[in-house]
Amino acid sequence: MKKRILCLSLFVLFFSQINAQDQKMNAFINALMSKMTVDEKIGQLNLITPGSDIPTGSVVSTNVEKKIAEGNVGGLFGVIGPEKVKQAQDIAVNKSRLKIPLLFGSDVIHGHRTTFPIPLGISCSWDTALIRYSASVAANEATADGLNWAFSPMVDIARDPRWGRVAEGSGEDPFLGSLIAAAMVKGYQGNSLADKNTLLACVKHFALYGAAEGGRDYNSVDMSKIKMYNEYLPPYKAAVDAGVATIMSSFNDIDGVPASGNKWLLTDLLRTKWGFKGMIVSDYTSIGEMVNHRQGDINQVSAQAIKAGLDMDMVTEGYLGTLKKSLQEKKVSIADIDRACIMVLEAKYKLGLFEDPYRYIDAARAAKEVLSESNRAAARKIARESFVLLQHDYKTLPLKKSASIALIGPLANDKNNMLGTWAVSGDPQKSIPVLEGMKNVGGAGLNIQFAKGANITDDPSLAKQANVFGLRVDIDKRSPDEMLQEALSIAKNADVVVAVVGEASELSGEAASRSDITLPASEQKLLKALYATGKPVVVVIMSGRPLVLTGAIEGAAAVLQTWHAGTEAGNAIADVLFGEVNPSGKLTMSFPYSVGQIPVYYSQKRTGRPIDPNNKFSTKYFDAPNEALFPFGYGLSYTKFVYSDLKLSSSELVKGKSIEVEVTVSNTGKFDGAEVVQLYTLDKVRSITPPEKELKGFQKVYLKAGESKKIKFALTEEMLRFYNAALQFVSEPGEFSVMIGGSSKEVLSKDMVLK
Ligand code: BGC
Repeated sequence: MKKRILCLSLFVLFFSQINAQDQKMNAFINALMSKMTVDEKIGQLNLITPGSDIPTGSVVSTNVEKKIAEGNVGGLFGVIGPEKVKQAQDIAVNKSRLKIPLLFGSDVIHGHRTTFPIPLGISCSWDTALIRYSASVAANEATADGLNWAFSPMVDIARDPRWGRVAEGSGEDPFLGSLIAAAMVKGYQGNSLADKNTLLACVKHFALYGAAEGGRDYNSVDMSKIKMYNEYLPPYKAAVDAGVATIMSSFNDIDGVPASGNKWLLTDLLRTKWGFKGMIVSDYTSIGEMVNHRQGDINQVSAQAIKAGLDMDMVTEGYLGTLKKSLQEKKVSIADIDRACIMVLEAKYKLGLFEDPYRYIDAARAAKEVLSESNRAAARKIARESFVLLQHDYKTLPLKKSASIALIGPLANDKNNMLGTWAVSGDPQKSIPVLEGMKNVGGAGLNIQFAKGANITDDPSLAKQANVFGLRVDIDKRSPDEMLQEALSIAKNADVVVAVVGEASELSGEAASRSDITLPASEQKLLKALYATGKPVVVVIMSGRPLVLTGAIEGAAAVLQTWHAGTEAGNAIADVLFGEVNPSGKLTMSFPYSVGQIPVYYSQKRTGRPIDPNNKFSTKYFDAPNEALFPFGYGLSYTKFVYSDLKLSSSELVKGKSIEVEVTVSNTGKFDGAEVVQLYTLDKVRSITPPEKELKGFQKVYLKAGESKKIKFALTEEMLRFYNAALQFVSEPGEFSVMIGGSSKEVLSKDMVLK
């Protein structure tokens, strides 16, 4: 009893403190607003970039200093580093009339100066604590570097690997995507936004951007509400529930209305239904792009955006140029402008910028904490956990340090591509290529020879696109044949070949859609020639997306998918190849068998004519399987894990109670290792057609060689809920299959009934 009273009073105390804090903030902002002119309020809604770093569209802002001094800027992005940030903040704080400090944002996407693997890679760790930690390390570095706002995490569900931006998200599954979204938000924002080493997270791109038709970037999205609610919206919602401070609207339209001017999306759903209390920012020029979407002229689209609920205008300067006139013409109200301004000011207040505009500017901290040894160690660890072993003959890996190794491939000794897309603050020169990593881990006596073997691509037009932000594809002066012969001569004298191939970093990411996602012809030719030597070939693939590997890896002894793994890529790859670490990543996005199958994802529906090889009139392709080459949840290890004895504590689940699902996982191989144990369900009769499998839980467990463990999950009625045709979140009584396995394809299954 006493305990309960104590808990209750702590609860009351906690909420009264929060209330008092809110009241203090409201009073401060009201007082400030009462001094602001309409122009100054509109100025706060303007987010611009001087374009000194990488601009992501064709527009950059002009007269930035003057605009800041005149109170026409609320925040900047692309200004990074204590010195530059201080210069800009000085202008806001010393020259503008009301001295309102600026926000400083950046695309801190996977690490900051210390670059981690691309987000799709990190998600393959299935380790939410590690993912949260990665965001907190990034926040620490970014704030030491003057920033207070990260345009991350991207939580767009992505099922079309032609879309280059799959690199930036967590793959195809809403359940896993939601947990990762929440972990990232908590990692960036920590316990308090006012702490010096935390910053505003920005969930993006709201919404459904990952479902662009045909995988072509910026393309239209058209989706039923049922699919939206069940499969695409959950990660954004999870981020809101985790307290994300800001949200970025997406480029695409939804139900015929561009997201940046979509009132249903930004106000009815996000604010009213989900209770989002933070600030909404547009994507880069996405307000202006509504003109191209044929929504009207710049006056019209800017008014539409603010009325839809969008607070801050990134780069278009449509708010700055038109809102005052629209106010006079009564096309927008002062309440619209006030609401948006309050959102921007609240974000600044929560960061503590009004108390100390220089809170995030600390050159001494930057010198000590940026690219520190411990951050590099974190990058190495995170990278190792992100690798997925796709194929293995169970004898070639791990490599022996005494073996003679031929290290071959255009990405084997390359510093420029490892950081991956959206590494705006990463320095390729600080990254460790595979050759160097192999020498570091293999030791002084390592017998290793290197040859480039091929260009990443021989196609100059592809190379040109890959080289927009600096040299990524370096087409060799030697002929392809000369390079190949050199590679073959070292391969023939080696015990084992390690071939490092894949995509250039800028062939994935924004505006990097591809209709052919096979390995480039130059690399395929190299691999074939290497297989023909009869030596065991370990293929290491660096890419920003699931590639179509059918055929290209048929002769490989082992295939390790490493993504673009960041600053410490080379060391991390060597750690895994030499067996210092046993790979344990599992795919979070299916690898298609062919482009023609796309979209291919594990949670597809059965259809009225389930696949039947003997029935022409069943759902299938003539010339390809229905299933992915490597499905969601798949990933091998140097050891083997065997699943047995799936048990349910009861064959009936009653609302309000739970049943225990237990499985025994045994490590039957020779190496210690980690396994991601995955729990799926199938709702056997549902009012709306269900996916054949839905992920409901997972645990990453460590097992010593020879060890067995009983793994338990609690299954509750809440876990079986979904959005029905009326968009109510319900479960429906009836039969379910409960499945556990080491991938979405290989599971043990038992049935039970929900009462
Ligand atoms: C991208 C966003 C990014 C923004 C700012 C846009 O082109 O879509 O993800 O945050 O640019 O760089």
